Amino acid sequence: MIKERRILTGITTTGLPHLGNLVGAIMPSIKASKEKNTTSFLFLADYHSLIKNSDSELRHQSSFNIAACWLACGLDPKKVIFYRQSDIPHIFELAWVLSCLASKGLLNRAHAYKAAMSDNQSKKVEDVDKGVNMGLFNYPILMAADILMFKADLVPVGQDQKQHIEMTRDMALKFNHHYGDILTAPEAVIDDNTGILPGIDGRKMSKSYENTIPLFSEEDELRKIVMKIKTNSLEPGEAKDPSDSNIFDIYKAFSTQEKTQELSRLFQNGIAWGDAKEVLYEELSSFLKPFKAEYNKIIEDKSYVETTLIEGSEKALSVSEPIIEEVRQAIGIKGF
Ligand code: TRP
Repeated sequence: MIKERRILTGITTTGLPHLGNLVGAIMPSIKASKEKNTTSFLFLADYHSLIKNSDSELRHQSSFNIAACWLACGLDPKKVIFYRQSDIPHIFELAWVLSCLASKGLLNRAHAYKAAMSDNQSKKVEDVDKGVNMGLFNYPILMAADILMFKADLVPVGQDQKQHIEMTRDMALKFNHHYGDILTAPEAVIDDNTGILPGIDGRKMSKSYENTIPLFSEEDELRKIVMKIKTNSLEPGEAKDPSDSNIFDIYKAFSTQEKTQELSRLFQNGIAWGDAKEVLYEELSSFLKPFKAEYNKIIEDKSYVETTLIEGSEKALSVSEPIIEEVRQAIGIKGF
């Protein structure tokens, strides 16, 4: 019998769904969910969003928008397990268990924490931990719990999340070493083509950099954002290097291979940056059109989204319940 593989991925619910979410997480995970012998766990990482923002209305709205986006992009809630992290309390229980296994030194090395420290250092702030809450510090543990709670085998993520998957493996193996072979050490699945999608300023497209291309904005808004993409100062007529262009990287992430090759030829022929942006805008706009139509329909029906997530959480709980019970037994938290 072929073993069923579990694929799991989540999106933090801060802000509106953007192109980075679509090509980095939503599309690959929907594609993977259609493969044989796989069960997909796709979820809204709503508790993760507390780390960076305390705006409850934004969090609530963002969860809804991201859920609607996932459904609009073709997620079939009958075929995958689609849920809110906050509906699965077992995740938080497991997070505590893992935090008692993870060494502080391991978490000292986590990117998000290191970035916050180096930010303080560069600003000559005396306390390197200034502004760092324990949520930020512990974030890789919560993420590990998200994954290990369902014994996921594969986790499709962007390149920047690779370290977290390695930490997750580390925690799983440590748990198993102490308490028996229970948790599954997962593997990251990183698509080299779309591993890191640049935002309009060239840094990774991310809500925290405010450099995203939103998926469902008005046409003139989308056009305006595309026109802001940072380029170098090469003149029209001068050959341009596709491997050194944000416009090209963004185009490549969602367009077909033939069209990408065509754009590469235009670059070599010295297309003006303004025209290259126009090509990107046109292609992006027609690519997003069907998703947008579906999205606009879905957001009109809040109760459909809610019911779908409740049904999803029931399925998720039926998987997490026996696993948390296994964990409790193994660690000696059990009846006399
Ligand atoms: N940390 C991920 C991100 O910011 C989101 C996330 C939370 C996640 N938990 C996860 C992704 C578990 C994969 C698996 O992109």
